[in-house]
Amino acid sequence: MSSAQTAPKLIGESNCFLEVLERVSQITQLNRPVLVVGERGTGKELIAERLHYLSERWDKSLLKMNCAALNQELLESELFGHESGAFTGASKLHKGRFERADGGTLFLDEVGTMSMRTQEKLLRFIEYGEYERLGGGATLTADVRLVAATNVDLPELADKGKFRHDLLDRLAFDVVTLPPLRARKEDLLLLAEHFALNMAKELGLALFTGFDKQAVDQLLTHTWPGNIRELKNAVERSVCRWGSDPEPIGELQIDPFESPYRLNEKAKVTSQKTASLAAEEPQAQTSSLALQLPINFKEEVENFEQELINRALKEGRFNQRKAAELLGLSYHQLRGNLKKYSLLKESEADT
Ligand SMILES: Nc1ncnc2c1ncn2[C@@H]1O[C@H](COP(=O)(O)OP(=O)(O)OP(=O)(O)O)[C@@H](O)[C@H]1O
Ligand SMILES: [Mg+2]
Repeated sequence: MSSAQTAPKLIGESNCFLEVLERVSQITQLNRPVLVVGERGTGKELIAERLHYLSERWDKSLLKMNCAALNQELLESELFGHESGAFTGASKLHKGRFERADGGTLFLDEVGTMSMRTQEKLLRFIEYGEYERLGGGATLTADVRLVAATNVDLPELADKGKFRHDLLDRLAFDVVTLPPLRARKEDLLLLAEHFALNMAKELGLALFTGFDKQAVDQLLTHTWPGNIRELKNAVERSVCRWGSDPEPIGELQIDPFESPYRLNEKAKVTSQKTASLAAEEPQAQTSSLALQLPINFKEEVENFEQELINRALKEGRFNQRKAAELLGLSYHQLRGNLKKYSLLKESEADT
């Protein structure tokens, strides 16, 4: 994107998202710091790029630094630079990002992870535009617009004494808060189609066949904790797996780890359960095993089976093939059980 030197194209028509874009447009020309906050994957970096490319600094550098990627010393050296011999391994003079971004914008990602000492240096830069290279005596100045981003609650961090209140006040001259995807339901299909079309193009597919009702339901019911990044990956993965099938995409691969052999808590609980049954040690992992004896064994086993089937149907969004997979059963075995428990009506969505 930076090579094209244009503001990134941001997809979205929901009111809350349009308000964000409006706000960004209002503050592009201000030379004050901006804090972009939002859950992971909500588009903070794209907003930072937009702030830069819509500003009068657009033809100068936009540099980015993830504050969580380096320890305190290396981060300071990357931000402020160092003189040769400033520390072991510092053989040459190194210009920092502030120096190299002079006239442009510096994006500081995950700013909440910065140490208190680095925060102090950053505050000084914001207040006076001054800094020193590590190991250097000369005070340098730079004209850099700061855009910081975080997915943590910085005021709370400041209250806990882990972030400087005075720095927060300065960084938060303007705060742009990005809505999570679940609050932008109107944009979901728009975004999904955009990512699917791009993926189809990348794969050289003749056309994108669209999503069928079940896939659309999946898109709309999933809560997308990883927001747009998660949606993008899920859609691209699904288009890729669906391949050149001429039917619309019938199922989204939301969770790439989904497998009947998945090594997860569920699997551990099941194996613990088996082990504990063998050892005759009662475990309170599931409601059935927490039962007090005596019981009606047959009835309880049937209840447990129905509980598992209902859960798998729900997790598989009433797709019987998926539910069978989740239970480690064949499709026909599951159908047999559904008939046995008269559960067929609730799961007719499957083909
Ligand atoms: N409105 C949008 N339109 C199109 N693509 C978007 C939009 N918002 C985000 N994306 C895409 O979603 C992905 C995540 O965006 P981005 O990296 O900006 O999020 P982030 O908030 O910085 O995430 P993190 O907190 O994990 O660093 C990127 O691939 C980006 O291109
Ligand atoms: Mg980011």
